[in-house]
Amino acid sequence: MAGEMQAPVTVVGLGAMGTALAEAFIRSGIATTVWNRTPQKAAGVVEKGAVHRTTVQEAVAASPLVVTCLTTYEVTREVLEPAGEFLAGRTLVTLNSGTPPGAREMAAWAARAGARFLDGAVMSVPDSVGTPDTLVFFSGDTATFEEHRATLGALGGGTVHLGAEPDFTALYDSALGGILLPTLLGFLQGVALVTSRGVPAGDLVPYAAAWLEKIGAILPELAREVDSGEYADPASSVGIFHDGVASLVRDGEAEQGVGVDVSWLAPVQDLLRKAVADGHRDHSIAVLAEYLRKPGRST
Ligand SMILES: NC(=O)c1ccc[n+]([C@@H]2O[C@H](COP(=O)([O-])OP(=O)(O)OC[C@H]3O[C@@H](n4cnc5c(N)ncnc54)[C@H](OP(=O)(O)O)[C@@H]3O)[C@@H](O)[C@H]2O)c1
Repeated sequence: MAGEMQAPVTVVGLGAMGTALAEAFIRSGIATTVWNRTPQKAAGVVEKGAVHRTTVQEAVAASPLVVTCLTTYEVTREVLEPAGEFLAGRTLVTLNSGTPPGAREMAAWAARAGARFLDGAVMSVPDSVGTPDTLVFFSGDTATFEEHRATLGALGGGTVHLGAEPDFTALYDSALGGILLPTLLGFLQGVALVTSRGVPAGDLVPYAAAWLEKIGAILPELAREVDSGEYADPASSVGIFHDGVASLVRDGEAEQGVGVDVSWLAPVQDLLRKAVADGHRDHSIAVLAEYLRKPGRST
């Protein structure tokens, strides 16, 4: 069996994601202990082979590797506080969403408890945990990651160690998470536009999906421009977006204009205006990264 030689693991937190993590460990043949604030939620994984402990202290003490999947770093510390002394000498892996400062605070807390620490994030939904394509980020001490690589690999075929900085998972998680909402809003604005003319939203989907693929294809060029600081030979200029947004906002405000509220674009329009005023009209849209990055600040 794949996990015969692997050390036992404890999963703290059996919400949707924690349950999926515990099930993936069990499927890999890894001895799995679980704890959850609401103990009834353990029934399903116990049926599949997990051992349930009623106190977090007993759960932590059961395994050299403790994986938490609670809502936030704050909740994680609150839950683990009573088990602090049992964490010494073990490896703690947090798998909640959060920001880099939160991850650094968590790492410092783990160090004070005498635990080795990795932060992680599942870049997918619970149903896909443990499948070959699922991307799972980890960051923190490289030797600690290597020691547990095989066990953590049970969570997804796309397990990636982002480096020794413990907050790099939260950095990448925040960076990728930030793409989602504006992208979905852009799609939903398109849906609002077509449905305002009686076109079903579904009619837009094949074109929107193909469009998103094309957008994906230009990302390497935008990244090259940001990395080199060379914006003078653009495929997509600030001016094109500036004028496009201006006409959409104007038509959105006009009584006989498009039937959608585009007021969510106001801060985007401000950003484009600022870039044009600074002489970037003919430069690549990638220059906006410089406006979004606060000078002299790191995350
Ligand atoms: N679900 C997803 O699609 C998904 C995808 C990627 C990342 N994530 C991240 O994974 C983490 C967990 O998400 P989830 O979907 O599993 O959330 P969830 O289903 O809402 O579960 C939350 C878990 O946290 C526990 N909890 C919350 N507050 C607590 C407290 N004060 N004391 C003790 N336990 C507490 C809950 O315990 P009870 O059962 O007792 O309430 C439960 O075990 C989040 O950071 C989320 O952003 C989730």
